[in-house]
Amino acid sequence: MTASQALIFPEAAIAGQWIAVGTMAELFDQGDCAGVQVRGRKVGLFKVDDELFAVDDICTHGNALLSEGDLDGYEIECPLHAGAFDLRSGKALCSPLLKNTQCHLVKIEDECVFVQLVSPEA
Ligand code: FES
Repeated sequence: MTASQALIFPEAAIAGQWIAVGTMAELFDQGDCAGVQVRGRKVGLFKVDDELFAVDDICTHGNALLSEGDLDGYEIECPLHAGAFDLRSGKALCSPLLKNTQCHLVKIEDECVFVQLVSPEA
């Protein structure tokens, strides 16, 4: 799924709540990366084996979507300049990145994926 296909749930709730963003089948039908919007914020979802991770989708270095990057284990490589982040911590792993990314909470219940924004401000 590309960012342009991102799911938008207009009933998105207030900060601190779990927000449904789609089912596992909907989100990951074309790969292990998906871009969604949560309360207007672009969030990238990444499936690593049986684990799911959510981070800000827009790269901290420029205007690129990490959900369109290359996933290698717990690392997501930005498609624009090949900077990489650790999905477990949001840590920037190499140049040209100077800033970590924000991780968000994510869970799966009955095949439905829920995201809780850790920091509601972009
Ligand atoms: S925009 Fe992501 S590394 Fe430059």
